[in-house]
Amino acid sequence: MTSDARFWDQTAEKYAASPIKDQVAYEHTLAETRKYLNSGDDLLEIGCGTGGTALLLADAVSHITATDISANMISIGAQKAAAQSVANVEFIQATPADTKLATKSYDAITGFNILHLLPDLEGDLLALRARLKPGGVLISKTPCISDWKWSALGRIAIPIMQFFGKAPYVCFLKGSDVEDKIEAAGFEIIVSENHNAFSRFIVAKKV
Ligand SMILES: C[S@@+](CC[C@H](N)C(=O)[O-])C[C@H]1O[C@@H](n2cnc3c(N)ncnc32)[C@H](O)[C@@H]1O
Repeated sequence: MTSDARFWDQTAEKYAASPIKDQVAYEHTLAETRKYLNSGDDLLEIGCGTGGTALLLADAVSHITATDISANMISIGAQKAAAQSVANVEFIQATPADTKLATKSYDAITGFNILHLLPDLEGDLLALRARLKPGGVLISKTPCISDWKWSALGRIAIPIMQFFGKAPYVCFLKGSDVEDKIEAAGFEIIVSENHNAFSRFIVAKKV
């Protein structure tokens, strides 16, 4: 098990119990995401956590494959789906480039609060592009810590927390970095806007 998988496994119960920090921004992201989904879509979500967003979007598509590196996150997500009688969300423990996901193609891929946590973002974006059908869309929202006014504090605090096992791998991205990496992986950016001070929402089409 990687140290990141262990970190997120240990965080899962607390994460499931935590309230959403900015409900208005979260609902705006959900509403904007729905604009790019269709009722017949097969959707892949990466870094789904405990599945809250997948369960809220389940009525917008035909099927969701909700994936995460953490077995504990996936387990809580599956329990929530059963408790809410949501039958079209399947939870699978997987990272974005996992060969488990290579058995089919998807109409859309979502990833919320995850791209900055991927140590091989470029490789993962290429893998995700390969998983999309022609014209499929990647929809992401990514905290871009380098666009945060207190980012200097983060650059000091996060490495100390990582040293003590209190933080996972984190990449200090700017919104423009995320755009550049998505484009370099073979996508055309359709939408790029901030959904709070430093969280960049991007919709990109496979070209
Ligand atoms: C900040 S949480 C976001 C969860 C959820 N998407 C949300 O917005 O609430 C990040 C999630 O990404 C998962 N994660 C971290 N690194 C990952 C990786 N390399 N591959 C897949 N999932 C990963 C973690 O287990 C965690 O559930």
